Amino acid sequence: MKNKTTDTTAANAAAKETTLDDLGHSPDALAQRKAELLALLAQTAPELISDNQLNVAKLQELLGEDRVGSEEHYELSWAGKTAARREIQKTSSHTLRPDANNPAQAHHMLIEGENLEVLRVLQKSYYGKVKMIYIDPPYNTGNDSFVYPDNYSETLDEYQRRTGEKNEAGFLNKQNLWKKNSKESGQYHSAWLSMMYPRLYLARNLLRDDGVIFISIDDNEATNLKLLCDEVFGAENFVSQVVWQRSKKGDSKLIANVHEYILCIVKNRHFALNNGNWRLPKQGADQVLEKYAELRSRFGAEHDTIRVEMQAWFKQLAQDDPRKAHKHYNWSDERGLYFAADFAGPDDGRASRPRHEIFHPVTSKPCKKPSTGWRWDEEKTKWAMAQNPPRIHFGPDETTIPTRKSYLFEIDSEPYSSVFYQDGRSATLEVEELVGKGCFPFPKNTSVIGDLVKLVTQPGDITLDFFAGSGSTAQTIMDLNIEQGGNRQSISVQMPEVLDEDSEAYKAGYRTIADITRARIDKVIAKLKAEHPDKTAKLACAHFTLAPSNFKVWRGDANSAEALREQLQLFQSAEKQATGTEDQPAQTAMLAELLLKHGLGALGVHAISKPTDMAGATVYRVLMPDNTLMLLCFDPYTEALKDELVQAKPAQVVMLNSCFVGPKADELLSNLQLELAGLEIGLTVI
Ligand SMILES: C[S@@+](CC[C@H](N)C(=O)[O-])C[C@H]1O[C@@H](n2cnc3c(N)ncnc32)[C@H](O)[C@@H]1O
Repeated sequence: MKNKTTDTTAANAAAKETTLDDLGHSPDALAQRKAELLALLAQTAPELISDNQLNVAKLQELLGEDRVGSEEHYELSWAGKTAARREIQKTSSHTLRPDANNPAQAHHMLIEGENLEVLRVLQKSYYGKVKMIYIDPPYNTGNDSFVYPDNYSETLDEYQRRTGEKNEAGFLNKQNLWKKNSKESGQYHSAWLSMMYPRLYLARNLLRDDGVIFISIDDNEATNLKLLCDEVFGAENFVSQVVWQRSKKGDSKLIANVHEYILCIVKNRHFALNNGNWRLPKQGADQVLEKYAELRSRFGAEHDTIRVEMQAWFKQLAQDDPRKAHKHYNWSDERGLYFAADFAGPDDGRASRPRHEIFHPVTSKPCKKPSTGWRWDEEKTKWAMAQNPPRIHFGPDETTIPTRKSYLFEIDSEPYSSVFYQDGRSATLEVEELVGKGCFPFPKNTSVIGDLVKLVTQPGDITLDFFAGSGSTAQTIMDLNIEQGGNRQSISVQMPEVLDEDSEAYKAGYRTIADITRARIDKVIAKLKAEHPDKTAKLACAHFTLAPSNFKVWRGDANSAEALREQLQLFQSAEKQATGTEDQPAQTAMLAELLLKHGLGALGVHAISKPTDMAGATVYRVLMPDNTLMLLCFDPYTEALKDELVQAKPAQVVMLNSCFVGPKADELLSNLQLELAGLEIGLTVI
């Protein structure tokens, strides 16, 4: 049976026509990429495309390149790369099942499930929508485990276990696909690369054009990860391999390794340069200005005393105290605290550097000039002198070269440094307080992730972490929303990795790592609500579990009349039987899936007001991003229902094929199609 989709024009622009195949499957990411590339080429060099195929020889000719004759070329290659690439093309027949007790309105999402499958499911709704991704994948230390990609022809049972579909005991069997990758393994690096490749590829699709991905890594795979990212994102989009010094001391017979890395890559360098802050507030600057304000209120205009007090205060700070970095800001005038910055022009050999006279305000004699001339021309110098107080700092007499006043309150931000120090142990304490001692090893500091978030995102942006662990990124976003009053969204993905029975976490009552993620997020929300009862609007988090689609999957490979007949029978209705649970009616699950696959995001389900009764049928109302209304109904169709639907003036109606029952089913449907089309109401029948 064919899907009867009539019109989706009024639906969300991102929601392309939804076919039954779409409903059963997530989009094919490679096919999407290919289509984008072909469209781009067709626009700029149409002569290269014929029959929707690229003429490679012509392209080389255009570029003036010789045909590649040699087998040798520069490329990152590993055992299993082709199979890993195939993973990108696979589509998912899964969806996200919302928890029955999700809050009515949610801002954040925690998705329990294997991240490759989840990334596939997210493609439709979040394609090109995520501003920042932070991930902290397994580092491949030789001791850690990850989904082992050595068996692509897995059985259904293995597949179900891998995706967490089987929720009862026994899924994600550690002995099976979730395996330890030891350094002795002949495929040590290959296995890790095969695991990362499709995930990064799909993650890139989710990024906005000005999106940024940050990836934590250490020496085990840093080199491979850099090359892999060059391939997936394009070498020109690499920004930095930031060095994070995590401790002061380390034990080693050779060199004490006290650092790891955070790779920063943008989706498109051009867009990234024009968007995002790419600057951070100067660390410790606020506290220095606070101290200065205190001295100003004590000593008023006694700027010499204030200078002595500031110098004494800086002196007693520890060397690694971020406030100490500003110790050169110790001069003061009526405008504020400043640093006497160099006024010399750069030594670039230019004879024409400004060399005008600057007269000392007390002796009235011309001041000594720097050998390279002044940095500012005469006009700017005049302007600076005319300010009250002047923006030029003089020595006791004309024999001292004047300097420029650089005020701390005016220069309170700086670029992110490619090297920084932050003790990693404080993160463990932070997590232990929330989920219990010893429950989650080596979490990342929310302060470190927070800086990355502040560096590249704005309120309202969507962030994603698909190796969520204890949920550090989610906490970072929630804390920041409270601190800055913003509404950034977080999506966290964590596999229900089974905990060892002798682990501290198991003893504390957790059964999977996802239980820990969930507990931390819940505790953070409770804590923030208690501390800031007036700012709780953007705190709620909805939970989702990766689950099989509620709709049947049409198999295009039916190659006999009998197989075709079987499928036609199966597809008398598109939805599967009894997909709901006692806690959660099948309709809610179907609704969530339909929204997700209409590109409305899984959180769209919370935009639904309580279902209403229309002529005895249950109807769900969804407010679309363009403020139009979508109505969804899965109950039997009647003429009376049609009248009420029309009265509600929706832009879009979604129904199931099985809503149309009885001998006149086809006639009822055709009439409805015609009537709604006349009223410019879109109708999708699945
Ligand atoms: C290094 S930890 C991340 C720690 C996290 N940054 C924090 O601060 O708590 C990596 C996490 O990714 C999870 N993980 C590994 N492979 C996964 C997969 N294929 N799908 C989903 N989660 C996965 C692991 O269970 C682990 O919790």
